[in-house]
Amino acid sequence: MFDELKQIREAALKQLEEAVSSDELNELSTSVLGRGGKLTAILRTMGKLSAEERAEMGKRANLVKQELAQKFEERKAALAALAEQRSIEREAIDVTLPGVRKAAGTGALNPLTLVYREIRDALVGLGFTTFEGPEVEYDEYNFTLLNLPPDHPARDMQDTFYINDKVLLRTHTSPCEARALKTLELPFRLVIPGRVFRVDEPDASHSPVFMQMEGLVVDRNVSLADLKGTIDSFVKAVFGENFESRLRPSYFPFTEPSAEVDISCTICGGKGCSSCKGTGWMEIMGCGITNPHEIVNCGHDSDEWRAFAWGVGVDRVACLKYGISDIRLIYEGDGRFLSQFK
Ligand code: DAH
Repeated sequence: MFDELKQIREAALKQLEEAVSSDELNELSTSVLGRGGKLTAILRTMGKLSAEERAEMGKRANLVKQELAQKFEERKAALAALAEQRSIEREAIDVTLPGVRKAAGTGALNPLTLVYREIRDALVGLGFTTFEGPEVEYDEYNFTLLNLPPDHPARDMQDTFYINDKVLLRTHTSPCEARALKTLELPFRLVIPGRVFRVDEPDASHSPVFMQMEGLVVDRNVSLADLKGTIDSFVKAVFGENFESRLRPSYFPFTEPSAEVDISCTICGGKGCSSCKGTGWMEIMGCGITNPHEIVNCGHDSDEWRAFAWGVGVDRVACLKYGISDIRLIYEGDGRFLSQFK
């Protein structure tokens, strides 16, 4: 029996050294020290021994038990430390390694989005907030309230997609001027982005859908000089400090006086070339001092409130800024085109 105890001890110590996981260790511990374990089993047979032997056997068995229990704990701790060490090694990150590029590459923003954000950010810096209106609009807002009553000849300036007698696809972002004047508290400064629609055959410079950004500033005392300064500041933000803008007299029913805004030619910088027909200037938008009729139509006193406004074609600005020769590219979503705007 003493030999048996010795064997149990030696076998257990050997297995203990060989155990590689704490599960294995636990199993081993139960099979030796547990209630149904080997050690318990031989202690049960001690009745056969003489009283002397029994005392000796009891003593030795207890020592083995203590020794093994301690060894189990030690081995357990050693295995845990090893596992931790391994996981630290496995999870170690070499921060000096170069990053992994995604195989398919990341996306790029459409040039319209880039130009929109530049103009918006420049204006937000001047205290503007954004405002939006619906793409499907009432004739009343798109035309009538803007001093373009039914049968006004200037309605022909914009070929319109009508949905029915009263509803249409907005031809410009200007109906949002009427919406803002009718709903917001004055004074305000707004930048109004959106898609607009006109009956046009698509070609290099026309698209039946394009993007405009309206600006509208309403206050008690605004002047043409404020309009010019505001436009000049976002022209410079988009194109660069060297770019000049100028106002040239024009006509819009909703402004009086009205003007077209030209900027220095983006091809020749102002010297005169075939793109600017030798003038050194390129037209980018319409603007003016809001016609008092519009202010009155929208429910305000035109003696108290003045306003200025503009409507800029974002596509046109993007084409000029990035040298895009065909507006259709902007809407086709071709990855080869878009990836150039990263
Ligand atoms: N809505 C005009 C257009 O689409 C542009 C424009 C907007 C002219 C606002 C303005 C104005 O005089 O105040 O052509």
